[in-house]
Amino acid sequence: MRIPRRSFLKGTASLAAGAALDGCAAASRPARVTPWVWCGAVTERTALVKARAPFSERPYLWVAPLRDAMGARELAPAAVGPHGVATFALEGLEPGTDYLYALRDRARAGELLGRFKTFTPGPTSFRFSTASCARTGSSHAVFDTIRKRKPAFFLHLGDFHYENIDANDPAVFARAFDLVLSSPSQSELYRSCPIAYTWDDHDYGPNNSDRGAPGRLAALAAYREHVPHYPLAGTRTIHQAFTVGRVRFILTDLRADRDGPGVPFETRTMLGPEQKAWLLAELAEAGRYGLVVWASSVGWIGDGGDDDWGGFPAERAEIGRFLMEHGVKNLLMVSGDAHMLAIDDGSHNTMVDGGPGFPLFHAAALDQKGSDKGGPFSHPQVPGGGQYGEVDIVDEGGRVQVTLTGRDHEARAIMQHRFAV
Ligand SMILES: [Fe+2]
Repeated sequence: MRIPRRSFLKGTASLAAGAALDGCAAASRPARVTPWVWCGAVTERTALVKARAPFSERPYLWVAPLRDAMGARELAPAAVGPHGVATFALEGLEPGTDYLYALRDRARAGELLGRFKTFTPGPTSFRFSTASCARTGSSHAVFDTIRKRKPAFFLHLGDFHYENIDANDPAVFARAFDLVLSSPSQSELYRSCPIAYTWDDHDYGPNNSDRGAPGRLAALAAYREHVPHYPLAGTRTIHQAFTVGRVRFILTDLRADRDGPGVPFETRTMLGPEQKAWLLAELAEAGRYGLVVWASSVGWIGDGGDDDWGGFPAERAEIGRFLMEHGVKNLLMVSGDAHMLAIDDGSHNTMVDGGPGFPLFHAAALDQKGSDKGGPFSHPQVPGGGQYGEVDIVDEGGRVQVTLTGRDHEARAIMQHRFAV
């Protein structure tokens, strides 16, 4: 379904004019902000919708099952953040059900529509798409292509924008979100399916940034306000996890508590102690799931540079040993940062004594020039922009069948790998 957006924008203009006439308290806001809305943190019975509705003091959300508009309800914001982002908490939803939502205002001057489907318990087959790295506010055709392939959700692996913010000012981060979410093709994608998003360096801070980034606290505050995220498992980073059917998704934050380049390779951490303890506890529970997908913003088979896992060999080996000791054999890593597609079937991922050898899927770049980092891989690097990854899960209760496909912006398959766990 192609989701319309124009009617709301038209309504925005007329409301803005009305606000100027009656002198209401809009003077502190930017003169023109394109409304946006997106959905995330979807579970079997809940979802979060975040929206920017600068035209109205009282936006509300209309929500209905796709099959039953009579079951519609209206929600007021559970909270409105300091930059005007409204949070709508959807609860009591039906599992495995398509929902429509509409961001509206009391004057009914326009609306912005979106949709999502709640997850299903037990064995479930589904598709998700994943990628990283787009120029700020990109309207590349790759976003339309991803939407038309109808993923259950889009897993964004970072570099949502390239503002490289080095100021501890949440308003600067807020403007970056406004720029991205007002891109027509990105807006349509994010309203066509839920988002799950962890950042990388350029959307958290400057290039190759770490916990010393000047804007660290502002980045954390802006993420909490703007992104419909799953419950954050800690305070120092944005790590989070969720489950779809029998597949566990682990999203790490590899920026906000990583050591800077001055710390020796033997001791440096990319995760920080709080997040590492959480990650290892998650991995220790891998046997409860058919498949575990670890979303790592940077590549695992690094080239020994400072910025990816190759620059953190001791911590990478610690995780590898942990996986071997706990017999974890159902892990898939998806990663971004390097602007290329690449797949490893596990045969080159032998970081510790010949193991653990889990498969890797590197999916980038949405809209950046190609770059070639890391390797070797069983399916060698294809640098480029307009690229993304698609993961198809077939789970009928036995082994989970997984197909990884790297695609270009016309959905042509560039590389593919199938495996079962
Ligand atoms: Fe990037």
